[in-house]
Amino acid sequence: MITAMRISCQFGPLADVEADWLIVGICEKEGPSPSVQELDQALGGALVRLIEKGDIAGKAKELTPILDCKGVKAARVLAVGLGQRDKIDTAGLIGAAAAAAKSITGKAYNRLAIGLPEQTPGMDAAGVAWALGVGLQQGCEGPGIRKNKPERFTPKELVVAAPSTAPRDAVEQAARRAGVEGRAVSLARELVNMPPCDLYPESFAERARQVAAATGTECVVWDEKQLLAERMNALLAVARGSDRPPRLVVMRYRGGGAKSLGLVGKGVTFDSGGLSLKTNEQMVDMKCDMAGAAAVLSALQAVAELKLPVNVLGVMALVENLPSGKAMKLGDVFAARNGKTIEVLNTDAEGRLILSDALCYAADQKADHLVDLATLTGACMVALGTEVAGVMSNDEKWSQRVLAAAHAAGERAWPLPMYPLYNEMIKSDVADMKNTGGSRYAGAISAAKFLEEFVGNVPWVHLDIAGPAWAEKESATRDAGGTGCFVRTLVELARTYS
Ligand code: BES
Ligand code: MN
Ligand code: ZN
Repeated sequence: MITAMRISCQFGPLADVEADWLIVGICEKEGPSPSVQELDQALGGALVRLIEKGDIAGKAKELTPILDCKGVKAARVLAVGLGQRDKIDTAGLIGAAAAAAKSITGKAYNRLAIGLPEQTPGMDAAGVAWALGVGLQQGCEGPGIRKNKPERFTPKELVVAAPSTAPRDAVEQAARRAGVEGRAVSLARELVNMPPCDLYPESFAERARQVAAATGTECVVWDEKQLLAERMNALLAVARGSDRPPRLVVMRYRGGGAKSLGLVGKGVTFDSGGLSLKTNEQMVDMKCDMAGAAAVLSALQAVAELKLPVNVLGVMALVENLPSGKAMKLGDVFAARNGKTIEVLNTDAEGRLILSDALCYAADQKADHLVDLATLTGACMVALGTEVAGVMSNDEKWSQRVLAAAHAAGERAWPLPMYPLYNEMIKSDVADMKNTGGSRYAGAISAAKFLEEFVGNVPWVHLDIAGPAWAEKESATRDAGGTGCFVRTLVELARTYS
């Protein structure tokens, strides 16, 4: 398990910050901010000289280490470009802090600090502190969870250094929240990065139990017998092909209030496609197909640790999708939990099958609003690319709230239409519906139209995270592998839910 970093705040001059590295932001086309200027005077003007020579331009993600520091308490200073001040946003700040941390955690250091840039238009000090804290933590951990010789080293302590004029309580609270959310994102990343030989439905459920026990959250795990008794036949149909039994995890956090927010996650711990077998190239990253369930578990952990005054129901549908003599076949028909019959025409469209029963259960539990997260379709990546989640909904107002939460959390999500005309796509000759859209077109939407059949009248948003859940390659701001996407959005949604 990933080691926990402590995150704290310090108020006062940057020259007084004790750290192995002190990270400071520099904006493009302007001199250093007042607190950095003060630091630079203590440093003997090194930063300003580099700015004047053009070595530091302040361009987004530009990194300039100053290794030989005298006159300040930090052993080293790292200048990170923030881009133009009026273009700075939450995602940009998270990226800048992550890039800085990522560039220095190839060696072992105990304590990293980051200075709070002053006067960021459109963002308050607390929002900035939160973003920097989140980014810093994300930049400290890589995907190499099974390397004998680690290539990345998690520091013990992170410090958000704010000017003495900053609102103390708000910044401290924001840093604490960043710590909790950063750890939740790390949990999601770790689960997605775990090899499928170690993470399968039972072991995922066991991990959920541990999270629930540690946070005082209710947790029930259903095995095949209970799944059968609860009529979850679509989920069981997918699970059939594997020797590993399926699980459904139901977590309940009761923070109070009249309403309940239901979060449902796709947890296919490995998606081979089943009899509609994927190619090696398509299958190679399919351990990531449980990222939706990982996001739900991680968000619940954070919500419980933050003691948010809301009720959250988390449902995680956990299966492996494999071919075998017992696997479901093309042409098979199953009745889902609500009795609706489904014709299976492609066993690789397994996500919507397991989600149908899970969404139905969440609706039966009287969740007032639903969000499901699923690495559901390659078609969504064709539509929106690898960085943006598709948003599909049966309720405009609820969808706007989810989009607003994503925006506030610095995550990218974009709506796709749900016109009734798309209902045609999932019509079956023999059953109530089929599990494919029947053509190459609008594949993300036909999948969502399928899911819509199982939420009843509950306002519901479907987040197709097939793109953003997994980073094929590393970049300056992000490691390769599981990204922990939409954990922060879910926490923000719970924070603003009532
Ligand atoms: N897990 C995949 C979707 C996916 C693809 C996630 C790439 C992440 C990256 C899903 O189960 C799947 O196989 N979907 C099919 C649906 C089709 C058979 C209707 C797809 O997108 O090709
Ligand atoms: Mn599939
Ligand atoms: Zn899948």
